[in-house]
Amino acid sequence: MDFQISDEQLMIRQAARDFARLDCLPGVIERDEHQIFPREQVLKLSDLGFMGMMVDPEYGGSGLDTVSYVLAMEEISKVDASTSVCMSVNNSLVCWGLEFFGSEEQKRKYLHPLAQGRKDGNLYIGAFLLSEPEAGSDASSQHTTAEDKGDHYLLNGTKNWITNGSSASVYLVMAQTDPTQGSKGINTFIVEKDQPGVSVGVKENKMGIRGSDTHSISFSDVKVPRINRIGDHGFGFTFAMKTLAGGRIGIAAQALGIASGAYELALAYSKQRKAFGTEIAKHQAIQFKLADMATRIEAARLLCLKSAWEKDNGQDYGLSSSMAKVFSSETAMWVTTEAVQILGGYGYVKEYHVERLMRDAKITQIYEGTSEVQRMVISRQILK
Ligand code: CAA
Repeated sequence: MDFQISDEQLMIRQAARDFARLDCLPGVIERDEHQIFPREQVLKLSDLGFMGMMVDPEYGGSGLDTVSYVLAMEEISKVDASTSVCMSVNNSLVCWGLEFFGSEEQKRKYLHPLAQGRKDGNLYIGAFLLSEPEAGSDASSQHTTAEDKGDHYLLNGTKNWITNGSSASVYLVMAQTDPTQGSKGINTFIVEKDQPGVSVGVKENKMGIRGSDTHSISFSDVKVPRINRIGDHGFGFTFAMKTLAGGRIGIAAQALGIASGAYELALAYSKQRKAFGTEIAKHQAIQFKLADMATRIEAARLLCLKSAWEKDNGQDYGLSSSMAKVFSSETAMWVTTEAVQILGGYGYVKEYHVERLMRDAKITQIYEGTSEVQRMVISRQILK
């Protein structure tokens, strides 16, 4: 068993750490407060080759492994989870799905610029449209319809909680074509945002990751060419499930980063804040908190890296990615709450970052499959 990170992976981690400190930290509190999408940060991620990290260079990506992706996601999420979710959705839910299941034509036209994060110099990213007002955890009960009209499909319906909703140029949309076939009647389509009939709803006013733009998206008689369907008829639900299995590694790494960011702030604070005549780090009440935080973070990191390693080595990672996601996200919620407690009153105000990290942690227990859904996936696998 080799726990050693390679020189290349260390370089990627350092690049992500530098980017987080130099490009994300300045203004992160203001972007959170005013819900400002981190456009400059995402453009810089594109320059770094981080918007299509694992995509083959032939299709515009950086050709890196999933372990590097986890390392980068952790570093960026320590500082700015609004930027890292944008990176995660583009990498795992959009680029990966297109690279593995898209046609050659779809890859040339869409994957190449998406993996670069730019087209003609402008921001060019994607979004994943599965959730609906009445289909969240129960993802196969899709109400959005895609009527088969021969050379095209007619798309109607509404999608909810869409990350990158207004900043994306390309949507991967799941829709029901034949309700009599249940989940086997679902297809996934590539839809361009500026097509007639596509409308972007108001931006959600969220508790956390407030910089990321979350919208509902509606489709009214949107004509989607048949060649924009991904895979054979009925592949849409399997596409969503397979893509989400990898996406969950990204969100697990995001949760890990939120936890380790809060832990590092609490650790540093505990060494300089004095109470009862000495640094609070010298009190056992704080020492035990720090010890538990460090231990849980390390366990979450190992789960994330194991799942990434399995993915890189052609092994089944559906079980490990759900385990990594549920454990990392619950660790993030617990660690950030403890970090706020260690900072006391300072933890409760915005300047010290930990209250934001605590608000950001919550969504990692909800999106890309709630903790309850992860436990469904895990229990189904271990009981089968
Ligand atoms: N890989 C391949 N196929 C899979 C699969 C997987 N991982 N999981 C399920 N399938 C297949 C099943 O084998 C089954 O096929 P058969 O009928 O041939 O056996 C079919 O899909 C239906 O599967 P289930 O019967 O297991 O489906 P279900 O209705 O019981 O639901 C579920 C399973 C795991 C709960 C699923 O609905 C789920 O994952 N829900 C959560 C959805 C989710 O994560 N949403 C997140 C939205 S995206 C987001 O948050 C992005 C963002 O913007 C940040």
